[in-house]
Amino acid sequence: MCGIVGYVGHRRALNVLINGLQRLEYRGYDSAGFSLIENGKIVSYKKQGKVSDLVVLLNGLEFKSNIGIAHTRWATHGEPNDINAHPHLDNSGNISIVHNGIIENYATLKLWLKEKGYFFKSETDTEVLSVLIGYFYEKFKDLEKAVRIALSKVKGTFGVAVISSYEPNKIIAARRGSPIIVGIGEDEYIVASDASAIIQYTRQVTYLSDNELVIITKDGYQTKTIDNLPTSSDIQVLEFDLSKIEKGGFEHFMLKEIFEQPQTIQDACRGRLLVDEGNARLGGLLPVIDKLQNVDRILITACGTSWHAALIGEYLIENLCGIPVEVEYASEFRYRNPIIRQNDIVIAISQSGETADTLAAVQEAKRKKATVLGIVNVVGSSIARETDAGVYIHAGPEIGVASTKAFTSQLVILTLISLLLGRMRSLSQEEGILIANEIKALPEKVNKILQNAEQLRQIAKEFSYSRNFLYLGRGYNFPVALEGALKLKEISYIHAEGYPSAEMKHGPIALIDENMPVVFIAPKDPIYNKVLSNIEEVRSRRGRVISIATEGDENMKKYAEKVIYIPETLPMLTPILSVIPLQLLAYYIAVELGCNVDQPRNLAKSVTVE
Ligand code: M6R
Repeated sequence: MCGIVGYVGHRRALNVLINGLQRLEYRGYDSAGFSLIENGKIVSYKKQGKVSDLVVLLNGLEFKSNIGIAHTRWATHGEPNDINAHPHLDNSGNISIVHNGIIENYATLKLWLKEKGYFFKSETDTEVLSVLIGYFYEKFKDLEKAVRIALSKVKGTFGVAVISSYEPNKIIAARRGSPIIVGIGEDEYIVASDASAIIQYTRQVTYLSDNELVIITKDGYQTKTIDNLPTSSDIQVLEFDLSKIEKGGFEHFMLKEIFEQPQTIQDACRGRLLVDEGNARLGGLLPVIDKLQNVDRILITACGTSWHAALIGEYLIENLCGIPVEVEYASEFRYRNPIIRQNDIVIAISQSGETADTLAAVQEAKRKKATVLGIVNVVGSSIARETDAGVYIHAGPEIGVASTKAFTSQLVILTLISLLLGRMRSLSQEEGILIANEIKALPEKVNKILQNAEQLRQIAKEFSYSRNFLYLGRGYNFPVALEGALKLKEISYIHAEGYPSAEMKHGPIALIDENMPVVFIAPKDPIYNKVLSNIEEVRSRRGRVISIATEGDENMKKYAEKVIYIPETLPMLTPILSVIPLQLLAYYIAVELGCNVDQPRNLAKSVTVE
């Protein structure tokens, strides 16, 4: 989704801005642009398409400016084109802004400004904000005041950065519901919506809070609230390195991230898995340990892949701890008036920690006085900051739009939470030790599956012509079927659906013919024989069966046209293994079809709008 970079310091700003925009490309966007203050004047360039198209537009032009702002836009108001791209200027052309989020009352403000004689070139909500800032600047002749007053009139969400030739040495940035991070270098500052645009220059950062504003010059920065009250800022250190946001020899980030999973699974467990005690230690949950002890019911809320992880979490927690769990899409939860009782705990799962629907669900749960926990990847993100306590998954930056390593790490954390809660209840130490040992063995097992990637590439070649796929699984592997289907449709644009295997006969079976590949997740578990019957039903209608089966299950070869083996593990841990071939299958099919794997059409990495 939209991305912001701003720079003030001793370097040529344009280089830092273009570099930053490239680092933000993974978020998904449709146009890009920048403004500099060059020789006391605002200079702006913007272009529909990729950052590389913007660079072509510059055609070797040189700018000496040391201050500027830039943006990648993911269209919300107005189609993706050059005019709607950011930055947007006020009517004088002396104030330029870039904005993430949505100004909900933009139409009212626009009308009000039009009646005063102001004009608009674009269809965006952002231009309304820039013109509004211009209006207040004319009144107060003070940029900071103009920005503050304008933002106080705005309903909705924003991460915003502003420069002006009236006060050419400063960037003003502010946030409400959309992240802004200030990177603190030596005599230089980078402001961005995402740490990946900053890490190359400095690891020291400060995160703005909601309704906070920062005024940055090359000599320092000052934070305050939008209502002009001083705030203090906490300096934090970014923990990932540059290599984590580079492809490191892989053709795509998605493939790199799939192959990182042995490591990321281990990282999720590091210092947390107590094998000898058959338990888990989760420091981030210590503040709510009493609440966990007394919890009567858990509600898990999330979107997309994180929601699939939540469904597996439901099975895990109910099985290991006997605590009732409900899972709900965050977009539904936030508007549905959910019932939250005194001893309920709400868990929000999010890779980015910025998903607007999940964040709103967290806020709704907090409003209802629930204890809210987060399972989040991005350190310092909005959901991580809004929740009462939580566990970071520590998967490192996930750049590919299709979530892969975050999913398996979320599952590891959910398993650790279940272990912890289970041991507080009736789960014996013996059972705990068994589970802990199996968790410990996962990285090696994932490695083994990855060594078989070539088989998946061959299968992908054969099946990439199919226009529809069905994914079927049962029990713990039903959500894996949903996830496999989501992966495929996201990056290859092939229609795919996931179902519990036994539901097939209630409708989807009508689709089965010789052109329909059906991917069964059929490990050796207590419902294996039931799944075999479902496979028979597909075969008898000439559907083409691809099976994910447990190593040693030679019998499966009689049932399926293709069999992909995964190592044996406990049923509750199979999703962490069975999803890997599905990620690879989706990846190789998308590559086969020539799709843009890391930045699929219409998708954004973190969905910061409703
Ligand atoms: O950052 P989050 O985990 O909150 O994101 C939720 C979904 O937007 C995300 O999982 C999306 O479905 C991915 N593109 C899936 O690959």
